Amino acid sequence: AQKIIIDTDPGQDDAVAILLALASPELELLGLTIVAGNVALERTLRNALTICELAGRPELPVHAGCDRPLEGALVTAEHVHGASGLDGIELPAPRMRPAPGHAVDFLVDTLRREPAGSVTLVAIGPLTNLATAFERAPDIAARVARIVLMGGAWSELGNVTPAAEFNIHVDPEAAARIFASGVEITVLPLDATHRALTSRDWVEAMRQTGPVGRAVASWTSFYERFDQAKYGREGAPLHDPCAVAWLIQPGLFSGRRVNVEIETEGRFTRGMTVVDWWGTTDRPPNALFIRDLDREGLFRLLSSRLASLDRD
Ligand code: BDR
Ligand code: CA
Repeated sequence: AQKIIIDTDPGQDDAVAILLALASPELELLGLTIVAGNVALERTLRNALTICELAGRPELPVHAGCDRPLEGALVTAEHVHGASGLDGIELPAPRMRPAPGHAVDFLVDTLRREPAGSVTLVAIGPLTNLATAFERAPDIAARVARIVLMGGAWSELGNVTPAAEFNIHVDPEAAARIFASGVEITVLPLDATHRALTSRDWVEAMRQTGPVGRAVASWTSFYERFDQAKYGREGAPLHDPCAVAWLIQPGLFSGRRVNVEIETEGRFTRGMTVVDWWGTTDRPPNALFIRDLDREGLFRLLSSRLASLDRD
């Protein structure tokens, strides 16, 4: 199985991504590293523990990480995810404890301990933990197999400012370092994830499978109302699960290797992903930028994997 660490700020769609990874034999989840983003760190940490318990995996190492971006104040998204960050269903307060040690140390130690090129980082929140780890231990970048991240946009532009997607906008300095790190990156931007929309039938079928399915149905129904109000379309976009799904079934996605730079200065465009889709510069490609996906195939994968958690 492919070893992965998920760096995350749960978040309902983060939750579905974590559950998909836990349900997939192709992936070996070494641990979760938690970052502030959708809500403050204290809450994203608690949400991560709740998700692990729901999945019956209380032994999974969950490490608290950075509580604010490299520069400036934290931007959060309670208006999308609710005050807890995981609104939609009342779940028991988690009994498991976070693992000892900072997320950044866990990243550094794990990458140094595991064979070089054997660990993939799946980043589905702001990139603060990853950038801090690369800064503290420059040797680890060469040991990372790949970074698969949800973030950015090209034709769909921004969901938090007119130009920027949330994960990149929250910590553009961190994102800029990651894209300059030399590590091979796969990007799941809004162009793709805004097509990963739940349907009413899918949500109702999930609701019937058991406690995990019920939570997934309740979470996605909760944050669907934000997209409905904003974009006038039905369905909740499952942004973060796309990053995990790409690792399991890359054939569901299509994109192009291109150069991606992060705008950190722009008065209106801070946090924008500047994507050289048409090759107008001689900047070398640093990322596989996904633009499309097979929606039916993606939701088939999600149904079968998530239902397996309710059978175990
Ligand atoms: C990203 O921002 C967060 O709100 C979601 O969890 C996802 O990671 C989408 O822009
Ligand atoms: Ca997220």
